[in-house]
Amino acid sequence: MKKKIKPENDFLYMQAALKDGNEILELLTPYINQKILIPRSIEQIEKGIKNTWIAKSRENKIVATASIIFFSNNLCEIRALVVDKKYQSKNVGKNLITQIISFLTENYPTPLQIFALTYAVEFFKKIGFTVVSKSKFPDKIYEDCKFCLKQETCDETAVEMLIKKKDESVRRK
Ligand SMILES: CC(C)(COP(=O)(O)OP(=O)(O)OC[C@H]1O[C@@H](n2cnc3c(N)ncnc32)[C@H](O)[C@@H]1OP(=O)(O)O)[C@@H](O)C(=O)NCCC(=O)NCCS
Repeated sequence: MKKKIKPENDFLYMQAALKDGNEILELLTPYINQKILIPRSIEQIEKGIKNTWIAKSRENKIVATASIIFFSNNLCEIRALVVDKKYQSKNVGKNLITQIISFLTENYPTPLQIFALTYAVEFFKKIGFTVVSKSKFPDKIYEDCKFCLKQETCDETAVEMLIKKKDESVRRK
């Protein structure tokens, strides 16, 4: 399902390859250090590389990344979203997430519930996500929280987008 998607604003959006692992880790590290993201090793990044997306600049530099993880056929999380500080506020994040949503809508069974646990609530709302209660998700989505330094003091917000059954339009509340 490898797919390179059309350039938007001078950036290319595509699925990551194994060789991108170290550059992705470099991108995540400042935000792991700030406890905005859950710590990830290079091995974990490489394991999830097929479900990781990147944006590249014209100079072939990785400037943004986000991953998806499925908990069931109908429940999917967007995680580890970062845009390089130098490239923020240029719609790179928005385009990356929009491309991922289009890809999921085209290639995966619907209906599909896409969610994120995030501090960037307004960013997700701009794309069409709505704020929902964290309690509506099954416990298994919190498996990785045991690696988070915040744990019991988690202050992330859950946001979701519901993709309706195919041939119905995407519902963006
Ligand atoms: C959050 C983040 C991914 C946004 O990416 P970005 O490329 O800078 O955002 P975009 O330029 O695509 O912004 C899209 C829209 O969201 C808005 N937006 C982006 N970040 C925002 C924020 N923190 N608060 C409010 N609005 C925000 C933008 O103003 C823009 O609005 P517009 O469409 O009306 O112009 C990026 O700032 C980032 O990597 N932050 C650090 C890591 C992080 O917090 N990741 C999320 C953890 S889940």
